[in-house]
Amino acid sequence: MSLSDKRILLIISGGIAAYKSLDLIRRLKERGAGVRVIMTKAAQHFVTPLSAGAIAGERAYTDLFDATTEFDIGHIRLARETDLVVIAPATADLMAKMAGGHADDLASTVLLATDKPILIAPAMNPQMWGHRATKRNLAQLLADGVATVGPNAGEMAEADEAGIGRMAEPIEIAAAIESLLAGRNAAPKALAGQHILVTSGPTHEAIDPVRYIANRSSGKQGHAIARAAAAAGATVTLVSGPVKLPDPPGIKVIHVESARAMLAAVEAGLPADAAIFAAAVADWRVAEMAAQKTKKTAAGPPTLAFVENPDILATVAKRKAQRPGLVIGFAAETERVIENARAKLVKKGCDWIVANDVSRETGVMGGDRNTVHLVTAQGVEAWPSQSKEEVARALVARIAETLKAPAALLR
Ligand code: C5P
Repeated sequence: MSLSDKRILLIISGGIAAYKSLDLIRRLKERGAGVRVIMTKAAQHFVTPLSAGAIAGERAYTDLFDATTEFDIGHIRLARETDLVVIAPATADLMAKMAGGHADDLASTVLLATDKPILIAPAMNPQMWGHRATKRNLAQLLADGVATVGPNAGEMAEADEAGIGRMAEPIEIAAAIESLLAGRNAAPKALAGQHILVTSGPTHEAIDPVRYIANRSSGKQGHAIARAAAAAGATVTLVSGPVKLPDPPGIKVIHVESARAMLAAVEAGLPADAAIFAAAVADWRVAEMAAQKTKKTAAGPPTLAFVENPDILATVAKRKAQRPGLVIGFAAETERVIENARAKLVKKGCDWIVANDVSRETGVMGGDRNTVHLVTAQGVEAWPSQSKEEVARALVARIAETLKAPAALLR
């Protein structure tokens, strides 16, 4: 893909990742884009307007009340004479300002004045990214139609800190810009106007304040489905258990730990046109979570009593009100895959089961590839071995086709 003849307005806000923005300018120019740069005051502590301007080939803009700039081009023209506005890095502070509609410097004023698509590449300390205030602001920005790329998981600039908060790499940001701009000119998408709900990842069931029961699910397949549905134009709600993956761009992600919290988030996410339950939900939880850390005693190891967790898929599939038009479950099996999947289809009351073999030797759990069977009331289809991304795209294409068909054909 290329960005020839596209105009990109890059806003650099103040974070250590700002040094990568210089590389982003270069990569956008390599793809043929014209790049204009605005820098906040804080950004100028990390990179200089001179270096950003030199790479962009045009002076970097920094002041709202700069008489020359206002006379020359002005903040309204900066906001409008572009095809897309990208903020990289987007700090927690700038996101808060955007969410609140502030306009007290050049960057925030231009963001309020623009009618062009906005992409943000957040970068901050993991604690700041996880803070309730940031989550609130992000939810507001997503609701306002702002697209996101990253942040990624990894090491932080601060010693010994790691987690989600690193800015996406310039190459990922350039790719996100390309797909956003391509999407705007493309024909109507297969899932445009549809709301798709996806569960992904494992659940953690607490034993005591520090211990929990979990499983090996990575969330890769569920997250890939959420991304593929969004790429097909759907509005996507992703309810994710604890995973090491970044939140997919442009998707409302609800983070949960336990099966019960996942069920509550799923029910709060209804109505949906289709729901895909890819999470590996723990079947049981400890009957009573200990209020304090369980100690070793002379009486020997404790005995854990379990109770069954709610079956989220079955609960939603059997709803009378607000049952999604298409309810899809996964069946991760280690033996008699199809037979078990067929039984599951009936028992849970869902429309399709995507069955896969997760025996240790298949490397599916945590791996990048998947070999699945699609089990429906009509029969069983064996799909070739493909990447989890390809499985996601194929499944989304099938969902789009089915949602278009008359209701009687859905099941
Ligand atoms: O019964 P089993 O766990 O094998 O069923 C797998 C399917 O059911 C998956 O789609 C999974 O997301 C869903 N499930 C659920 N809630 C549970 C258990 C499984 O939604 N408590």
